[in-house]
Amino acid sequence: MTQHGGLATFTTAAFRGEYFMTHSSLSRTPEDVDIVTRNRQFDIEEVLATNWHSDDVFKTAFFNALSILFPLGEQFFIDSVKAYRSEIDDPVLQERVKGFMGQESVHRREHQKYNEALCEAHGLDLEELEALVAKRKAFAQKHLPALRQLAGTVALEHLTAIMADATFRNPATLEGAHPKMKELWHWHALEETEHKAVAFDVFEAVGGGTGMRRSAMILTTIEFTHHVIRNMRLLLRDYKGSRIKLWFGGMKFLFGKNGALRGLLRPYLDFYRKDFHPWDHDNRELVGSVMKEFGGGTVQPI
Ligand SMILES: [Fe+2]
Ligand SMILES: [Fe+2]
Repeated sequence: MTQHGGLATFTTAAFRGEYFMTHSSLSRTPEDVDIVTRNRQFDIEEVLATNWHSDDVFKTAFFNALSILFPLGEQFFIDSVKAYRSEIDDPVLQERVKGFMGQESVHRREHQKYNEALCEAHGLDLEELEALVAKRKAFAQKHLPALRQLAGTVALEHLTAIMADATFRNPATLEGAHPKMKELWHWHALEETEHKAVAFDVFEAVGGGTGMRRSAMILTTIEFTHHVIRNMRLLLRDYKGSRIKLWFGGMKFLFGKNGALRGLLRPYLDFYRKDFHPWDHDNRELVGSVMKEFGGGTVQPI
């Protein structure tokens, strides 16, 4: 199963020894999780012109609002990990980093196409939608130390990982969505799960500490929530119906019974533990069952 058969014969203890001697890193992604770059393309232009999620304005806008954040956000993730790539001596973690960067770059590409098609179909201004995330990214890359940038990535990767897990655990989240869109979001969630520990392991390997990781998460949570709400408000700017009704129904979808974000508090708070690691939430079984949805034939390493 693993792509790293030969290296898998190293024992954890051996890696730990090497880590302390050479300041190389230790990948803690389970050996049977492959970080595969699937070179997927999604033909969704026509679907994006519709309320593709259950013919529901709020549900559709929620996922579209997330998509708007991805191309610039995922470029930031790639850049922040890449900055430390040359410091990683551990060949397994190097492989994992390669997998992480490969997956995030295809996510970027597909969400860029997604966002352009969405804006084209609805007469939206992508530059306006991306303006805040572009500003924050430029500020962070200009003024924050590289390790702080990486800590931000680690925090955001945890948020995406727990949301991905919720997507699989709670089928109601994408129930009623257009099959092509469901496939796209499942593909993204699957890969977010596979690579959820890579930025974290790099952060720890290069000396990132718990304090920085915690403060990054506090700031990131506030920022991320602000960005999603902002994007939704822009996407729903021309909505003619009752906004109170729309947001009330939306909150029910997110936090009500079987809500999309329900049950995320505990895994979210786990991140603040000193000894936390993303694979403490071992959802390999879940990933395995989702993998079947994609079948061997659709796996196209690039
Ligand atoms: Fe991604
Ligand atoms: Fe990611």
